[in-house]
Amino acid sequence: MNTMLRRSITLIAVLAIVAVFIVIQTQTGEDNLPTWPTSVPAGKIDFKKNVRPLLIINCLECHNSEDAPANGNLNLETRELAMTTGNNPPILVPGKPDESRLITVLTLEGIHQKAMPPTPDKIWGVRMEILRRWIEEGADWPASVRLVHPREIKEW
Ligand code: HEC
Repeated sequence: MNTMLRRSITLIAVLAIVAVFIVIQTQTGEDNLPTWPTSVPAGKIDFKKNVRPLLIINCLECHNSEDAPANGNLNLETRELAMTTGNNPPILVPGKPDESRLITVLTLEGIHQKAMPPTPDKIWGVRMEILRRWIEEGADWPASVRLVHPREIKEW
């Protein structure tokens, strides 16, 4: 085989590998998941943008109207439900994150029965700070924004 041919084959192989990577990348992009924020946003926390994805991904799988009975009766689909459901409502005290069990259950050790979410993926750092600030600022949650089970999300 002459050098020219060998170079061409190498080049084609490299291009093929790059193409495969690009296809894989695009497909993971279509996974349609929001990325976690890397810093707490400046200014007032925007419920729809900053809190909604966090609650849907971490909590709505269990705390929706269908599954609530098996999960502490807590339904986090709307603000009204979040304020009135659960075995000992309210779990959300606007202005007071330290008195809101929505926050305190997240800080429990995983071994604790009531640690939320009951998986190793605890909420901490920036995501925790966003939740705390949102409650401190009054826990605004427009009535038109209803949260759903993550499998029902087509677009973030
Ligand atoms: C895999 C299912 C599951 C997920 C995900 C989940 N929870 Fe729960 N949650 C439960 C169960 C089960 C209970 C009832 C626990 C109990 O009463 O001991 C509960 C109870 C609670 C309670 C009431 C605890 C109390 O005693 O007052 C709060 C508040 C809560 N969850 C918040 C959350 C938040 C916030 C998230 C998301 C960050 C979340 N949960 C994610 C299953 C889940």
